[in-house]
Formats: sequence, C-alpha cells, structure tokens
Amino acid sequence: MRFLFTSVILGTIAMLSGCQTQKQSPKQPPQFNTGALWYDTNHEVINAHGGGLLLVNKTYFWYGEKRGTSASEGVSVYSSKDLYHWKNEGLALPKSNDPNSEIAVGGLIERPKVIYNTKTKKYVMWFHLELPNQGYKAARAGIAISDTPTGPFRYLKSFRPNGNMSRDMTLYLDDDGSAYHIYSARENYDLRIVKLTDDYLDATQQDSLLFSNHREAPAIFKKNHLYYLITSGCTGWEPNQASLHVASSLFGPWKLLDDPMQGPLANKTFGGQSTYILPLKDKKNAFIFMADKWNPKDLKDSRYLWLPIEFENNQPVIKWQEQWQLSSYNP
Ligand code: GAL
Repeated sequence: MRFLFTSVILGTIAMLSGCQTQKQSPKQPPQFNTGALWYDTNHEVINAHGGGLLLVNKTYFWYGEKRGTSASEGVSVYSSKDLYHWKNEGLALPKSNDPNSEIAVGGLIERPKVIYNTKTKKYVMWFHLELPNQGYKAARAGIAISDTPTGPFRYLKSFRPNGNMSRDMTLYLDDDGSAYHIYSARENYDLRIVKLTDDYLDATQQDSLLFSNHREAPAIFKKNHLYYLITSGCTGWEPNQASLHVASSLFGPWKLLDDPMQGPLANKTFGGQSTYILPLKDKKNAFIFMADKWNPKDLKDSRYLWLPIEFENNQPVIKWQEQWQLSSYNP
C-alpha cells in the first residue's frame, strides 16, 4: 500500500515536472525525447553540456562540458554509432591538479569543440577558457590536442585571437579542409570569425567581424553552398530568442533571416540555447540542431534539446517535437 502510494506520488511529480526520461528500451525503436533526462549506456545521466559532435569513421563522439552543481570539471566525451545510445568514454580533457595551470580547478572550460586535422593526424579541441578564480574576465580561447578522439587531450595554450576577447565559440571545418573559430568578442557585442592555421593550433590574421548584434552561442551548418548561422542573445543561462543568418561566404556579408524556431516557447528557443548543428553522415541535407536547456541551480542537470532542421521554401525551420526519430528525415 505504502509502495503504491509512493509510486503514485512520484509518478504525479514526474508528470507535473515533465520529467520524462530518455532511457532507450531494447524493445521499442529508439527515439529522442527532447529535454528529457538522457542516460548513457551505464545508466548514468549524460554530462556533456555546451557540446559538439565529431564523426570518426562510423562513430560519433560527443564532447561537452562536464559540470558539477556549478563547477566546471573538464570536458567529457561519449561515443555512439546511432546517436541514441551513448557510451561514456571518460574525460577527454581533465582539469589540472597543478594550481599554476591555466586549466586548474576554479576556472571554466566551456563549449568545447573538436575537429580532426588530416595533415597532422591530430584531434584538435578549442574551447572557451576562463582562468581560475577570475569569473568571466579572461575571455580566452583554449587549445588541446590528442592522437585519439577519446584523448585524454593535452592542454597546449590559450590566447585572445588577434587580441580580441573570446567567449562563446564554435569551430567550423569547411569542405576544403580550412577551419575557423567563430567567437563572441568585445564583451559579446561582436561576433567574429578567424581562420585557423593549417595545423588548427593557432589563429591567423584573417579575422573579421560578422556582426555587432550582441549575440553568442554560435552554431553553423552549410547547405547548397550557403552557410547558416544560429546564435542566441546574451542573457546568461536564461533562454532568449534565437536568430538565423545566412551568407555565401564565411566572411560575410551575413543576412538576417526570420527566427527559425516554431512551436511552444519558440521565441525563447524552446527554453534552450544553441550549441551545435550536426550534419548526418548517411543522409544528404539532414541536420540536427542541438541546444542546452540550462539549469543554473544545478548545471549538471541542464538538459539537451536536439531537434531536426527542416526546410520550407528553402529556409531552415526548427519545430518543437517532444519525441522524434531519425527516420523522420526525408530520404
Ligand atoms: C551564457 C553562455 C554560456 C555560459 C553562461 C554563463 O551566455 O552562452 O556558455 O557562459 O552565459 O552565464
């Protein structure tokens, strides 16, 4: 009786809080449960926020911020063959125990992104680095390197690209092997792009302002020779309205399009903030938009919003869906 009572109460609380889980049952076809608790193959909640994905042969690697209640605990990495089931591969970049290190405990590692350099055969990670015990003052890009996708990566250095502050960021690897760092500069008023050196370990001087609209959380993809860039406003962990820009060259000019989000809370990016856009390996022009639904009271419990990008009149549109499957993409 007591058991029944407890499970009814727990079930009601779960319903009211919208607390579904993303446990994949072997009997049902897998699906994405947008914003639900998402467990890895070890039954632990996935802890990989502000993340990005990398495809290596047939395996996807998901890199993200490992967070405690608020602490930054390094970069975690998970692997998956199907995007639904994720295996924890541990810490790709742990915090350093050396108190003099730039990545010592007390600093922040945010929005890690990894790309592979075919010339040097190295995996290169860039991230937003804040130095220990300085809040968000340092505003630097950090770089780490590894021979394998799971690492552990070796921390190399940090800097401000061409002297510019560098906070929210992403990396973009273009079809010709050129790589770019897109970053919020000048107290996040400017969004900039800088081309990386051939080894992807430095910024070149090809560094340009994209726009000065006070935007951050850049996520980018390319379709039919056009680049699409989704960004958020700057309201910290609070959600705000996404914007979409399009350009035929990474260095612009960038044209502002309508907000691509549609559905409940669309004008607040469904309660989330963009982090990455994944092109699917075996489907042409199929992309997943990825966002973080931050929980500032308990950052590790921030949730993942993954949604398919659709195209209507050739314009990207992202519709809220509580559940969906990869089979929903047109073949
Ligand atoms: C957001 C940013 C996050 C994190 C947060 C801290 O604006 O996108 O990555 O830095 O601020 O408040």
